[in-house]
Amino acid sequence: MNLEPSRPTRRVRIAPSILSADFARLAEEVQAIEAAGADYVHFDVMDGHFVPNITIGPGVIKALRKHTRLPFDVHLMIAPVDPFVSAFVDAGADILTVHSEAGPHLHRTLQLVRSHKIKAGVSLNPATSADAIAAVIAEVDLVLVMSVNPGFGGQQFIESQIEKVKTIRGLIDASGRSVDLEVDGGVTAENAGRLIAAGADVLVAGTATFNGGRGQYAANIGRLRAAALA
Ligand code: DX5
Ligand code: ZN
Repeated sequence: MNLEPSRPTRRVRIAPSILSADFARLAEEVQAIEAAGADYVHFDVMDGHFVPNITIGPGVIKALRKHTRLPFDVHLMIAPVDPFVSAFVDAGADILTVHSEAGPHLHRTLQLVRSHKIKAGVSLNPATSADAIAAVIAEVDLVLVMSVNPGFGGQQFIESQIEKVKTIRGLIDASGRSVDLEVDGGVTAENAGRLIAAGADVLVAGTATFNGGRGQYAANIGRLRAAALA
């Protein structure tokens, strides 16, 4: 007889990262992933300082807000964060995720995000251990585990991060709070099942969603979801 408490069936969500979308047609792209079954739009905001790449800012997110009803899952790979929080809230972010490494006062930054009545997320780079966020589990609605070094799409999945996902799932379950666990970077149909089994809920997928062009988005998302639930 299995005495293990049954794990609550967590809803698996797919969050395509527009980093891999056609930047010349972003409104059409977010509409296409919504029609293809995406659960969130994942925005990779990069400042060329915290990460070695520059992408989009609040203006692009604001411009896209009226084109889809999907939740905007905004991943800030920027430092400092605090001066820009209100601009991303005003742009329409539903979830604003900040890096634990982006500044000296993570707790204050998370309180600032939550003061705007949107969901707060914290992200960890591959070299950052799970205990770096143990003290702020009560301040977040989402933990984002980077499974690549942030800056670019299409990179190789870093296998060691699966153990971190398991550790963070343990921290979340021990807290008794419903905190989503998102994984970002190199996620494919080949590793999706292992990530969900390790305790992830939300899978960011840039390349795996946009590969093959617009006619493939629904099949790509369907394949990811099927693999995640297998
Ligand atoms: C890295 C970015 C990427 C992106 C996903 O800074 O955050 O991880 O979201 O890219 P793929 O799914 O193409 O690895
Ligand atoms: Zn991201």
